[in-house]
Amino acid sequence: KMVPLHTACLLLSLAPLLVLGVPPIWTQPEQVHLSYPGAPGSMAVTWTTFNETESKVEYGLLGGRLFEMIAKGGATLFVDSGKEKRKMYIHRVTLTDLKPAATYVYHCGSDEGWSEVFSFTALNDSTSFSPRFALYGDMGNENPQSLARLQKETQLGMYDAILHIGKPACHSLFQDNARIGDEFMRQIQSIAAYVPYMTCPGNHESTYNFSNYRNRFTMPGQTESLWYSWNLGSAHIISLSTEVYFYLDFGQELIFKQYEWLMKDLEEANKPENRAVRPWILTMGHRPMYCSDDDQDDCTQFDSYVRLGRSDTEPPAPGLEDLFYRYGVDVELWAHEHTYERLWPVYGDKVYNGSKEQPYVNPKAPVHIITGSAGCREKTDRFNPNPKEWSAFRSMDYGYTRMQVVNATHLYLEQVSDDQYGKVIDSIWVEKEKHGFSAWF
Ligand SMILES: [Fe+2]
Repeated sequence: KMVPLHTACLLLSLAPLLVLGVPPIWTQPEQVHLSYPGAPGSMAVTWTTFNETESKVEYGLLGGRLFEMIAKGGATLFVDSGKEKRKMYIHRVTLTDLKPAATYVYHCGSDEGWSEVFSFTALNDSTSFSPRFALYGDMGNENPQSLARLQKETQLGMYDAILHIGKPACHSLFQDNARIGDEFMRQIQSIAAYVPYMTCPGNHESTYNFSNYRNRFTMPGQTESLWYSWNLGSAHIISLSTEVYFYLDFGQELIFKQYEWLMKDLEEANKPENRAVRPWILTMGHRPMYCSDDDQDDCTQFDSYVRLGRSDTEPPAPGLEDLFYRYGVDVELWAHEHTYERLWPVYGDKVYNGSKEQPYVNPKAPVHIITGSAGCREKTDRFNPNPKEWSAFRSMDYGYTRMQVVNATHLYLEQVSDDQYGKVIDSIWVEKEKHGFSAWF
């Protein structure tokens, strides 16, 4: 018997409501990204589901039998602190015993849903390896100018790791009940599922005490990705939170905790046997010590908290410039200002070039790079028309930086302009015969 037309119409118009009434089952993995846990032969895979599932990675060598091996991990429930209290499960699986420099094919998920198939190359753990990095900060969901170029270059195998110097999503992972975070993590999957994506916290992540940042990423160490260090090739790379200097509500003791950790880490990295094999010490943090942008940030006023510390805390909090100088940090990478700026070797607001002809050959102070122009909805910042003498090169083009730690004595940096279709608009070789504090004299 036929259903009368008007009844059929009524049923049809009710259909969306019926669908909405049942909560959807979301067991499909998304937001897949890799990070390097620091131990040779390892790689961490992190992803999200909205329902609870198992956490498995099936993988195998490229060209071998697919999904020959399996690794299991676990998931943590992350409840966003926004109004909707959105829930998601963050899955983490660490692969171990990977063959250095071998390429693996993998997917992740569970028998209730699998991701697409991705691949990665296990990091080469030799100290004579010359790793290549892409680095940038402040790339967001809206207007991610450099994203397409970075996706293609990563998939072409041009990078061994990405350094994202704070403020993923520009405008905070927590916004719109953490949907901005989801969207951003989906967007970077086409990069981050193929190479380790190493991060540090930025401003804007402070909402709900950095919980979106701390929950979504899987960096080495025990600080929920806030500060940590790792090694690759002849470099020791330190990631830190500049935000501890700005959000005292979460406890000014964080400044001291991080400072002590940094001191210990630098002490260890400077032991002669360690510095001999990993002579380059690089740092990455979101807010720069120096900058010459025409905005209200504290680096434009030359009283940067990150550089000089804070005297309004009890006891006064030490800044990082002296610490990094004392332990002979070679290169300091920053973002936050939505521009690119290369500095002459600088310490205490003064230029310390290696020589007049070759400023970056045996520099007498750390080299600072600010690379925060990957693309935000805020557009790039403007420059102060009268920069201090330490400002060597500035660009307002959208873009990102490439870096290669070639060997114990040579490190290469270049700036790519997205506005100019991938043109390299700046490059330097930093050359050092000696590393450490004594190299400054
Ligand atoms: Fe920022």
